[in-house]
Amino acid sequence: MATTTKTAAAPKAGRNEHTVTLTDNATGKSWTFPVMDGSIGPKVIDVRKLYADTGFFTYDPGFTSTGSCQSALTFIDGDEGVLLHRGYAIEDLAEHSDFMEVCYLLLNGELPNAAQKAKFEHDITYHTMVHEQLQYLYRGFRRDAHPMAVMVGVVGALSAFYHDSTDINDPHQRMVASHRLIAKMPTIAAMAYKYSLGQPFVYPRNDLDYATNFLRMCFAVPCEDYRINPVLSKAMDRIFILHADHEQNASTSTVRLAGSSGANPFACIAAGIASLWGPAHGGANEAVLNMLREIGSKDKVPEYVKRAKSKDSGFRLMGFGHRVYKNYDPRAAVMRKTCHEVLEELGVKDEPLLDLAMELERVALEDDYFVSKKLYPNVDFYSGIILKAMGFPTSMFTVLFALARTVGWVAQWKEMIEDPSQKIGRPRQLYTGPTKRAYVAVAKRK
Ligand code: ACO
Repeated sequence: MATTTKTAAAPKAGRNEHTVTLTDNATGKSWTFPVMDGSIGPKVIDVRKLYADTGFFTYDPGFTSTGSCQSALTFIDGDEGVLLHRGYAIEDLAEHSDFMEVCYLLLNGELPNAAQKAKFEHDITYHTMVHEQLQYLYRGFRRDAHPMAVMVGVVGALSAFYHDSTDINDPHQRMVASHRLIAKMPTIAAMAYKYSLGQPFVYPRNDLDYATNFLRMCFAVPCEDYRINPVLSKAMDRIFILHADHEQNASTSTVRLAGSSGANPFACIAAGIASLWGPAHGGANEAVLNMLREIGSKDKVPEYVKRAKSKDSGFRLMGFGHRVYKNYDPRAAVMRKTCHEVLEELGVKDEPLLDLAMELERVALEDDYFVSKKLYPNVDFYSGIILKAMGFPTSMFTVLFALARTVGWVAQWKEMIEDPSQKIGRPRQLYTGPTKRAYVAVAKRK
Protein backbone atom coordinates (compact mmCIF):
# COMPACT_ATOMS: atom_id res chain seq x y z
CA MET A 1 0.00 0.00 0.00
CA ALA A 2 1.40 3.46 -0.85
CA THR A 3 0.34 7.01 0.04
CA THR A 4 0.84 10.16 -2.01
CA THR A 5 0.05 13.74 -0.99
CA LYS A 6 -1.51 16.31 -3.31
CA THR A 7 -1.77 20.13 -3.25
CA ALA A 8 -0.28 22.24 -0.42
CA ALA A 9 -2.63 23.41 2.32
CA ALA A 10 -3.63 26.91 3.43
CA PRO A 11 -2.49 27.47 7.04
CA LYS A 12 -5.89 27.59 8.74
CA ALA A 13 -7.41 25.19 11.23
CA GLY A 14 -9.82 22.55 9.93
CA ARG A 15 -10.22 20.83 6.58
CA ASN A 16 -9.02 22.28 3.28
CA GLU A 17 -8.17 21.16 -0.24
CA HIS A 18 -5.20 19.07 0.88
CA THR A 19 -5.81 15.34 0.55
CA VAL A 20 -3.88 12.10 0.89
CA THR A 21 -4.43 9.18 -1.43
CA LEU A 22 -4.08 5.64 -0.21
CA THR A 23 -3.42 2.92 -2.76
CA ASP A 24 -3.81 -0.80 -2.12
CA ASN A 25 -1.01 -2.34 -4.14
CA ALA A 26 -2.71 -5.75 -4.02
CA THR A 27 -5.88 -4.62 -5.81
CA GLY A 28 -4.83 -1.30 -7.36
CA LYS A 29 -7.75 0.47 -5.63
CA SER A 30 -7.22 4.03 -4.40
CA TRP A 31 -9.06 6.14 -1.84
CA THR A 32 -8.64 9.80 -1.02
CA PHE A 33 -8.72 11.16 2.51
CA PRO A 34 -8.96 14.75 3.70
CA VAL A 35 -6.10 16.39 5.59
CA MET A 36 -6.81 18.69 8.53
CA ASP A 37 -4.66 21.56 9.77
CA GLY A 38 -4.29 22.56 13.38
CA SER A 39 -3.36 26.16 14.24
CA ILE A 40 0.26 24.95 14.63
CA GLY A 41 1.87 21.54 14.59
CA PRO A 42 1.66 18.56 12.23
CA LYS A 43 -1.31 18.11 9.93
CA VAL A 44 -3.52 15.04 10.45
CA ILE A 45 -5.05 12.68 7.91
CA ASP A 46 -8.76 12.37 8.66
CA VAL A 47 -9.25 8.58 8.64
CA ARG A 48 -12.70 8.52 10.22
CA LYS A 49 -14.18 6.98 7.07
CA LEU A 50 -11.21 4.65 6.48
CA TYR A 51 -12.89 1.43 7.60
CA ALA A 52 -16.23 2.24 6.01
CA ASP A 53 -14.58 3.11 2.69
CA THR A 54 -11.71 0.62 2.54
CA GLY A 55 -12.35 -2.21 5.02
CA PHE A 56 -8.96 -1.52 6.66
CA PHE A 57 -8.21 -0.41 10.21
CA THR A 58 -5.03 1.48 11.13
CA TYR A 59 -2.55 -0.21 13.49
CA ASP A 60 -0.83 2.09 16.01
CA PRO A 61 -0.06 0.52 19.39
CA GLY A 62 0.97 3.23 21.86
CA PHE A 63 -0.77 5.79 19.59
CA THR A 64 2.57 7.11 18.33
CA SER A 65 0.97 8.53 15.15
CA THR A 66 -2.65 8.93 16.17
CA GLY A 67 -4.51 12.10 17.12
CA SER A 68 -7.44 11.04 19.28
CA CYS A 69 -9.20 14.40 19.50
CA GLN A 70 -9.14 18.09 18.65
CA SER A 71 -7.98 20.25 21.54
CA ALA A 72 -7.32 23.97 22.02
CA LEU A 73 -5.67 23.64 25.44
CA THR A 74 -2.02 22.66 25.15
CA PHE A 75 0.52 22.53 22.36
CA ILE A 76 3.86 20.72 22.50
CA ASP A 77 6.64 20.92 19.93
CA GLY A 78 8.78 18.03 21.11
CA ASP A 79 11.65 18.71 18.70
CA GLU A 80 12.00 22.33 19.77
CA GLY A 81 11.19 21.76 23.46
CA VAL A 82 8.15 24.06 23.38
CA LEU A 83 5.12 23.81 25.68
CA LEU A 84 2.22 26.28 25.35
CA HIS A 85 -0.98 26.48 27.36
CA ARG A 86 -3.66 28.32 25.36
CA GLY A 87 -0.73 29.91 23.47
CA TYR A 88 1.27 31.02 26.51
CA ALA A 89 4.79 29.58 26.97
CA ILE A 90 5.26 27.48 30.11
CA GLU A 91 8.39 29.48 30.99
CA ASP A 92 6.35 32.73 31.00
CA LEU A 93 3.56 31.20 33.06
CA ALA A 94 6.05 29.74 35.56
CA GLU A 95 7.86 33.07 35.86
CA HIS A 96 5.00 35.59 35.87
CA SER A 97 1.74 33.81 36.61
CA ASP A 98 0.35 31.75 39.49
CA PHE A 99 -1.43 28.42 39.62
CA MET A 100 -4.93 29.86 40.07
CA GLU A 101 -4.48 31.95 36.92
CA VAL A 102 -3.22 28.94 35.00
CA CYS A 103 -6.25 26.94 36.19
CA TYR A 104 -8.55 29.71 34.96
CA LEU A 105 -6.67 29.89 31.68
CA LEU A 106 -6.91 26.15 31.04
CA LEU A 107 -10.59 26.00 31.97
CA ASN A 108 -11.74 29.18 30.24
CA GLY A 109 -9.30 29.83 27.41
CA GLU A 110 -8.08 33.29 28.50
CA LEU A 111 -6.13 34.71 31.42
CA PRO A 112 -8.56 36.29 33.90
CA ASN A 113 -8.83 40.02 34.51
CA ALA A 114 -8.56 41.15 38.15
CA ALA A 115 -12.28 40.74 38.91
CA GLN A 116 -12.47 37.35 37.19
CA LYS A 117 -9.39 36.20 39.08
CA ALA A 118 -10.79 37.28 42.44
CA LYS A 119 -14.09 35.51 41.74
CA PHE A 120 -12.36 32.33 40.56
CA GLU A 121 -10.13 32.23 43.63
CA HIS A 122 -13.21 32.70 45.81
CA ASP A 123 -15.07 29.91 43.98
CA ILE A 124 -12.16 27.50 44.41
CA THR A 125 -11.44 28.52 48.01
CA TYR A 126 -15.01 27.89 49.14
CA HIS A 127 -14.92 24.27 47.99
CA THR A 128 -11.75 23.30 49.87
CA MET A 129 -13.44 21.38 52.69
CA VAL A 130 -14.48 17.78 52.10
CA HIS A 131 -17.60 16.09 53.44
CA GLU A 132 -16.83 15.26 57.07
CA GLN A 133 -17.83 11.64 56.54
CA LEU A 134 -15.05 11.21 53.98
CA GLN A 135 -12.54 10.86 56.81
CA TYR A 136 -14.08 7.47 57.70
CA LEU A 137 -13.13 6.26 54.25
CA TYR A 138 -9.47 7.01 55.06
CA ARG A 139 -9.73 5.06 58.27
CA GLY A 140 -10.60 1.95 56.24
CA PHE A 141 -7.12 1.96 54.64
CA ARG A 142 -4.04 0.42 56.23
CA ARG A 143 -1.74 3.13 57.59
CA ASP A 144 1.07 1.87 55.34
CA ALA A 145 -1.07 2.06 52.17
CA HIS A 146 0.63 3.90 49.32
CA PRO A 147 -0.96 7.38 49.22
CA MET A 148 -1.68 6.94 45.49
CA ALA A 149 -3.82 3.90 46.38
CA VAL A 150 -5.70 6.10 48.84
CA MET A 151 -6.07 8.86 46.21
CA VAL A 152 -7.57 6.49 43.62
CA GLY A 153 -10.10 5.28 46.18
CA VAL A 154 -11.03 8.58 47.79
CA VAL A 155 -11.31 10.60 44.56
CA GLY A 156 -13.47 7.86 43.01
CA ALA A 157 -15.63 7.97 46.13
CA LEU A 158 -16.34 11.71 45.68
CA SER A 159 -19.10 10.71 43.27
CA ALA A 160 -20.85 9.10 46.24
CA PHE A 161 -20.70 12.39 48.17
CA TYR A 162 -21.47 15.09 45.59
CA HIS A 163 -24.52 13.83 43.70
CA ASP A 164 -25.48 17.38 42.84
CA SER A 165 -22.53 17.74 40.43
CA THR A 166 -22.48 14.43 38.56
CA ASP A 167 -24.89 15.30 35.73
CA ILE A 168 -22.44 15.79 32.88
CA ASN A 169 -25.12 17.26 30.61
CA ASP A 170 -25.70 20.24 32.90
CA PRO A 171 -23.07 22.99 32.28
CA HIS A 172 -23.52 24.35 35.81
CA GLN A 173 -22.91 20.95 37.37
CA ARG A 174 -19.87 20.47 35.14
CA MET A 175 -18.48 23.76 36.41
CA VAL A 176 -19.20 22.94 40.05
CA ALA A 177 -17.59 19.49 39.70
CA SER A 178 -14.52 21.08 38.07
CA HIS A 179 -14.19 23.61 40.90
CA ARG A 180 -14.74 20.95 43.54
CA LEU A 181 -12.06 18.69 42.11
CA ILE A 182 -9.45 21.47 41.86
CA ALA A 183 -10.36 22.78 45.33
CA LYS A 184 -10.58 19.49 47.19
CA MET A 185 -7.57 17.74 45.74
CA PRO A 186 -5.05 19.48 48.08
CA THR A 187 -7.25 18.61 51.07
CA ILE A 188 -7.57 14.98 49.95
CA ALA A 189 -3.84 14.66 49.21
CA ALA A 190 -2.86 16.22 52.55
CA MET A 191 -5.28 13.90 54.36
CA ALA A 192 -3.67 10.89 52.66
CA TYR A 193 -0.30 12.10 53.95
CA LYS A 194 -1.52 12.83 57.48
CA TYR A 195 -3.22 9.44 57.65
CA SER A 196 0.03 7.68 56.72
CA LEU A 197 1.78 9.52 59.56
CA GLY A 198 -0.92 8.88 62.11
CA GLN A 199 -1.33 12.63 62.63
CA PRO A 200 -4.67 14.47 62.86
CA PHE A 201 -6.14 15.82 59.67
CA VAL A 202 -5.64 19.59 59.26
CA TYR A 203 -8.62 21.53 57.92
CA PRO A 204 -8.08 23.98 55.05
CA ARG A 205 -7.74 27.69 55.75
CA ASN A 206 -9.45 29.87 53.20
CA ASP A 207 -7.40 33.00 53.94
CA LEU A 208 -4.33 31.27 52.50
CA ASP A 209 -3.40 30.90 48.85
CA TYR A 210 -3.74 27.50 47.19
CA ALA A 211 -0.12 26.35 47.58
CA THR A 212 0.36 27.70 51.11
CA ASN A 213 -2.90 26.13 52.25
CA PHE A 214 -1.72 22.78 50.90
CA LEU A 215 1.69 23.02 52.60
CA ARG A 216 0.00 23.92 55.87
CA MET A 217 -2.46 21.01 55.64
CA CYS A 218 0.53 18.70 55.12
CA PHE A 219 2.95 20.04 57.69
CA ALA A 220 0.99 21.83 60.44
CA VAL A 221 0.20 20.04 63.70
CA PRO A 222 -2.35 21.22 66.28
CA CYS A 223 0.26 21.64 69.02
CA GLU A 224 2.41 24.19 67.18
CA ASP A 225 2.03 27.31 65.05
CA TYR A 226 2.73 26.71 61.38
CA ARG A 227 5.20 29.19 59.93
CA ILE A 228 4.59 30.07 56.29
CA ASN A 229 7.70 30.23 54.13
CA PRO A 230 6.87 32.37 51.06
CA VAL A 231 9.80 30.94 49.07
CA LEU A 232 8.51 27.39 49.56
CA SER A 233 4.94 28.46 48.80
CA LYS A 234 6.12 30.09 45.57
CA ALA A 235 8.10 26.98 44.64
CA MET A 236 5.11 24.74 45.36
CA ASP A 237 2.91 26.99 43.23
CA ARG A 238 5.46 26.82 40.40
CA ILE A 239 5.61 23.03 40.62
CA PHE A 240 1.81 22.98 40.31
CA ILE A 241 2.02 25.22 37.20
CA LEU A 242 4.65 22.98 35.60
CA HIS A 243 2.44 19.92 36.00
CA ALA A 244 -0.93 21.52 35.17
CA ASP A 245 -1.51 19.98 31.73
CA HIS A 246 0.41 18.13 29.08
CA GLU A 247 -1.75 17.38 26.06
CA GLN A 248 -2.96 13.81 25.36
CA ASN A 249 -0.62 11.80 27.63
CA ALA A 250 -1.61 8.42 29.15
CA SER A 251 -3.53 9.74 32.16
CA THR A 252 -5.30 12.51 30.22
CA SER A 253 -6.28 10.06 27.50
CA THR A 254 -7.53 7.74 30.25
CA VAL A 255 -9.70 10.55 31.65
CA ARG A 256 -11.07 11.31 28.18
CA LEU A 257 -11.73 7.64 27.41
CA ALA A 258 -13.46 7.07 30.76
CA GLY A 259 -15.45 10.29 30.27
CA SER A 260 -16.43 9.42 26.71
CA SER A 261 -18.89 6.84 28.05
CA GLY A 262 -20.66 9.55 30.04
CA ALA A 263 -19.11 8.54 33.38
CA ASN A 264 -19.17 11.24 36.06
CA PRO A 265 -16.11 13.51 36.43
CA PHE A 266 -15.04 12.20 39.85
CA ALA A 267 -14.85 8.63 38.51
CA CYS A 268 -12.97 9.85 35.41
CA ILE A 269 -10.35 11.72 37.45
CA ALA A 270 -9.88 8.66 39.67
CA ALA A 271 -9.14 6.70 36.47
CA GLY A 272 -6.60 9.38 35.51
CA ILE A 273 -4.90 9.08 38.90
CA ALA A 274 -4.59 5.30 38.44
CA SER A 275 -2.96 5.78 35.05
CA LEU A 276 -0.60 8.47 36.35
CA TRP A 277 0.68 6.14 39.08
CA GLY A 278 2.83 4.00 36.74
CA PRO A 279 6.63 4.53 36.71
CA ALA A 280 6.64 5.23 32.96
CA HIS A 281 4.37 8.25 33.66
CA GLY A 282 3.87 10.24 36.88
CA GLY A 283 5.43 7.57 39.06
CA ALA A 284 8.80 8.47 37.52
CA ASN A 285 9.50 11.25 40.07
CA GLU A 286 9.37 8.66 42.84
CA ALA A 287 11.47 6.26 40.74
CA VAL A 288 14.12 8.97 40.11
CA LEU A 289 14.79 9.44 43.80
CA ASN A 290 14.87 5.70 44.42
CA MET A 291 17.33 5.38 41.51
CA LEU A 292 19.57 8.20 42.81
CA ARG A 293 19.61 6.59 46.26
CA GLU A 294 20.54 3.26 44.67
CA ILE A 295 23.37 4.85 42.65
CA GLY A 296 24.59 6.37 45.89
CA SER A 297 27.76 8.15 44.77
CA LYS A 298 29.14 9.98 41.74
CA ASP A 299 31.74 7.32 40.99
CA LYS A 300 28.91 4.83 40.34
CA VAL A 301 27.29 7.05 37.69
CA PRO A 302 29.17 5.59 34.68
CA GLU A 303 28.22 2.06 35.76
CA TYR A 304 24.49 2.97 35.88
CA VAL A 305 24.67 4.83 32.57
CA LYS A 306 26.22 1.71 31.05
CA ARG A 307 23.41 -0.42 32.51
CA ALA A 308 20.78 1.95 31.10
CA LYS A 309 22.27 1.49 27.62
CA SER A 310 22.09 -2.29 27.79
CA LYS A 311 18.81 -3.74 26.51
CA ASP A 312 19.32 -6.88 28.62
CA SER A 313 19.58 -5.05 31.95
CA GLY A 314 15.93 -3.94 31.87
CA PHE A 315 17.15 -0.75 33.57
CA ARG A 316 16.37 2.75 32.28
CA LEU A 317 17.46 6.11 33.57
CA MET A 318 14.35 7.32 35.36
CA GLY A 319 13.45 10.93 34.61
CA PHE A 320 15.09 10.62 31.19
CA GLY A 321 13.37 10.42 27.83
CA HIS A 322 9.91 11.39 26.71
CA ARG A 323 7.48 10.21 24.06
CA VAL A 324 7.09 13.72 22.67
CA TYR A 325 10.14 15.75 23.75
CA LYS A 326 13.21 15.00 21.67
CA ASN A 327 14.89 18.01 23.25
CA TYR A 328 15.26 19.33 26.82
CA ASP A 329 11.83 19.24 28.47
CA PRO A 330 11.15 22.98 29.08
CA ARG A 331 9.58 22.09 32.43
CA ALA A 332 12.79 20.33 33.51
CA ALA A 333 14.78 23.52 32.92
CA VAL A 334 12.45 25.56 35.18
CA MET A 335 12.41 22.73 37.71
CA ARG A 336 16.20 22.63 37.86
CA LYS A 337 16.32 26.40 38.57
CA THR A 338 13.57 26.09 41.22
CA CYS A 339 15.50 23.24 42.80
CA HIS A 340 18.52 25.49 43.38
CA GLU A 341 16.29 28.28 44.79
CA VAL A 342 14.57 25.96 47.27
CA LEU A 343 17.80 24.39 48.49
CA GLU A 344 19.32 27.82 48.97
CA GLU A 345 16.28 29.02 50.94
CA LEU A 346 16.42 25.96 53.14
CA GLY A 347 20.12 26.48 53.71
CA VAL A 348 20.99 23.14 52.14
CA LYS A 349 24.56 23.82 51.08
CA ASP A 350 25.28 20.34 49.94
CA GLU A 351 22.53 18.00 48.75
CA PRO A 352 24.26 14.82 47.62
CA LEU A 353 21.24 13.75 45.55
CA LEU A 354 21.28 17.03 43.60
CA ASP A 355 25.02 16.71 42.97
CA LEU A 356 24.42 13.17 41.85
CA ALA A 357 21.52 14.16 39.59
CA MET A 358 23.60 16.88 37.91
CA GLU A 359 26.49 14.48 37.41
CA LEU A 360 24.14 11.87 35.94
CA GLU A 361 22.69 14.48 33.58
CA ARG A 362 26.19 15.59 32.55
CA VAL A 363 27.45 12.07 31.87
CA ALA A 364 24.28 11.00 30.03
CA LEU A 365 24.17 14.11 27.83
CA GLU A 366 27.77 13.52 26.77
CA ASP A 367 27.02 9.92 25.86
CA ASP A 368 26.29 9.08 22.25
CA TYR A 369 23.48 6.65 23.20
CA PHE A 370 21.43 9.38 24.92
CA VAL A 371 22.39 12.05 22.37
CA SER A 372 21.51 9.94 19.34
CA LYS A 373 18.20 8.78 20.85
CA LYS A 374 17.44 12.35 21.95
CA LEU A 375 16.93 11.33 25.58
CA TYR A 376 16.95 14.42 27.82
CA PRO A 377 15.88 15.00 31.44
CA ASN A 378 12.09 15.28 31.75
CA VAL A 379 9.98 17.15 34.32
CA ASP A 380 10.39 14.36 36.86
CA PHE A 381 14.16 14.42 36.96
CA TYR A 382 14.56 17.34 39.39
CA SER A 383 11.10 17.57 40.98
CA GLY A 384 11.77 14.79 43.51
CA ILE A 385 14.82 16.55 44.91
CA ILE A 386 12.80 19.72 45.56
CA LEU A 387 9.93 17.83 47.11
CA LYS A 388 12.29 15.87 49.34
CA ALA A 389 13.92 19.11 50.50
CA MET A 390 10.47 20.50 51.31
CA GLY A 391 9.85 17.53 53.57
CA PHE A 392 7.66 15.29 51.42
CA PRO A 393 8.34 11.55 51.54
CA THR A 394 9.00 9.84 48.21
CA SER A 395 5.60 8.13 48.23
CA MET A 396 3.89 11.55 48.08
CA PHE A 397 5.65 12.73 44.92
CA THR A 398 3.18 11.27 42.44
CA VAL A 399 0.30 12.46 44.63
CA LEU A 400 1.53 16.03 44.17
CA PHE A 401 1.67 15.45 40.43
CA ALA A 402 -1.94 14.19 40.50
CA LEU A 403 -3.02 17.23 42.52
CA ALA A 404 -1.51 19.64 39.99
CA ARG A 405 -2.65 17.68 36.91
CA THR A 406 -6.27 17.62 38.10
CA VAL A 407 -6.94 20.98 36.41
CA GLY A 408 -5.59 19.62 33.11
CA TRP A 409 -7.68 16.47 33.37
CA VAL A 410 -10.79 18.46 34.25
CA ALA A 411 -10.25 21.01 31.47
CA GLN A 412 -9.67 18.24 28.90
CA TRP A 413 -12.73 16.32 30.13
CA LYS A 414 -14.87 19.48 29.92
CA GLU A 415 -13.56 20.27 26.43
CA MET A 416 -14.46 16.76 25.32
CA ILE A 417 -17.99 16.85 26.77
CA GLU A 418 -18.61 20.24 25.12
CA ASP A 419 -17.34 19.04 21.71
CA PRO A 420 -20.43 18.28 19.54
CA SER A 421 -18.46 15.67 17.57
CA GLN A 422 -17.62 13.71 20.74
CA LYS A 423 -18.26 9.96 20.61
CA ILE A 424 -17.56 7.11 22.98
CA GLY A 425 -13.90 6.09 22.58
CA ARG A 426 -13.66 2.63 21.09
CA PRO A 427 -10.34 1.58 19.49
CA ARG A 428 -10.24 -1.48 17.24
CA GLN A 429 -7.58 -4.19 17.07
CA LEU A 430 -5.58 -6.57 14.92
CA TYR A 431 -6.96 -9.91 16.10
CA THR A 432 -4.29 -12.64 16.37
CA GLY A 433 -6.19 -15.34 18.32
CA PRO A 434 -7.70 -18.63 17.09
CA THR A 435 -10.31 -18.60 14.35
CA LYS A 436 -13.75 -20.05 15.08
CA ARG A 437 -13.62 -23.60 16.44
CA ALA A 438 -16.01 -26.16 17.94
CA TYR A 439 -16.56 -26.37 21.71
CA VAL A 440 -15.07 -29.55 23.22
CA ALA A 441 -16.64 -31.09 26.36
CA VAL A 442 -14.26 -31.21 29.34
CA ALA A 443 -14.12 -35.03 29.35
CA LYS A 444 -12.94 -35.05 25.76
CA ARG A 445 -10.15 -32.47 26.22
CA LYS A 446 -6.56 -33.75 26.17
N1 ACO B 1 16.96 5.15 29.66
C1 ACO B 1 17.60 4.40 28.70
N2 ACO B 1 17.09 4.19 27.47
C2 ACO B 1 15.92 4.77 27.18
C3 ACO B 1 15.23 5.58 28.11
C4 ACO B 1 15.78 5.76 29.38
N3 ACO B 1 15.16 6.51 30.30
N4 ACO B 1 14.07 6.03 27.55
C5 ACO B 1 14.05 5.52 26.30
N5 ACO B 1 15.15 4.77 26.08
C6 ACO B 1 15.54 4.11 24.82
C7 ACO B 1 14.72 2.84 24.60
O1 ACO B 1 15.38 1.70 25.10
C8 ACO B 1 14.58 2.82 23.09
O2 ACO B 1 15.77 2.33 22.54
P1 ACO B 1 15.72 1.50 21.12
O3 ACO B 1 15.19 2.44 20.10
O4 ACO B 1 17.15 1.12 20.90
O5 ACO B 1 14.82 0.34 21.38
C9 ACO B 1 14.49 4.30 22.71
O6 ACO B 1 15.16 5.02 23.76
C10 ACO B 1 13.05 4.81 22.59
O7 ACO B 1 12.36 4.44 23.80
P2 ACO B 1 10.82 4.05 23.82
O8 ACO B 1 10.54 3.28 25.08
O9 ACO B 1 10.43 3.43 22.52
O10 ACO B 1 10.19 5.48 23.92
P3 ACO B 1 8.73 5.81 24.41
O11 ACO B 1 8.36 7.09 23.77
O12 ACO B 1 7.80 4.65 24.21
O13 ACO B 1 8.89 6.00 26.00
C11 ACO B 1 9.27 6.94 28.11
C12 ACO B 1 8.97 7.21 26.63
C13 ACO B 1 8.25 5.93 28.68
C14 ACO B 1 9.10 8.24 28.90
C15 ACO B 1 10.72 6.39 28.24
O14 ACO B 1 11.63 7.36 27.77
C16 ACO B 1 11.05 5.98 29.67
O15 ACO B 1 10.75 4.85 30.07
N6 ACO B 1 11.66 6.92 30.49
C17 ACO B 1 11.94 6.64 31.88
C18 ACO B 1 10.68 6.84 32.72
C19 ACO B 1 10.31 8.31 32.85
O16 ACO B 1 11.15 9.15 33.15
N7 ACO B 1 9.00 8.59 32.67
C20 ACO B 1 8.48 9.95 32.83
C21 ACO B 1 7.97 10.48 31.54
S1 ACO B 1 7.46 12.14 31.71
C22 ACO B 1 5.98 12.08 32.48
O17 ACO B 1 5.19 11.18 32.39
C23 ACO B 1 5.68 13.18 33.32
